Amino acid sequence: MDCCERLSRIWPPRCKELLIWGEGVVSEYDPLVDAAKLARENAHAKFSNFKVGAALRAASGKVFDGCNVENATYGLTVCAERVAIFKAISEGERRFDAIAVVTDANKLTPPCGACRQLIWEFCGDVPVVMANLKGKVEVVQMRELFPRPFDSSNL
Ligand code: THU
Repeated sequence: MDCCERLSRIWPPRCKELLIWGEGVVSEYDPLVDAAKLARENAHAKFSNFKVGAALRAASGKVFDGCNVENATYGLTVCAERVAIFKAISEGERRFDAIAVVTDANKLTPPCGACRQLIWEFCGDVPVVMANLKGKVEVVQMRELFPRPFDSSNL
């Protein structure tokens, strides 16, 4: 993938900072993707072998990571995104501005339905940075991934 192609893939709608450094492109989301990649290494995915890492950036700048944690019942599995959200909420964080999800799949991995609900409720219309280990990156806003949500405005 050449520099221009990579640039067009990672240029997000709300990108605050993007540096072009020779051939390399550095986006403000790179540290978040790196954190998700590292978290993925801790994935407990012995049933699906599908390892996922997530990283959630709080408005404070602090990053909370998570990995998927599977279980013999299958149904009690918790996705990487929800682990990251629960870690952050349990540490007292309440405002977030981006989340990254990293897998090893060629087709980038978007959050599942349950995670979309919680990302929407806790983070709102944040950019979701999907990346894989080969350097493919795409940024999509939550309102695109989760149109017409059910949330506290419906209660
Ligand atoms: N998984 C995640 O952790 N996040 C996603 O966004 C998609 C799916 C996990 C759940 C399960 O451990 C494995 O991936 C296969 O579904």
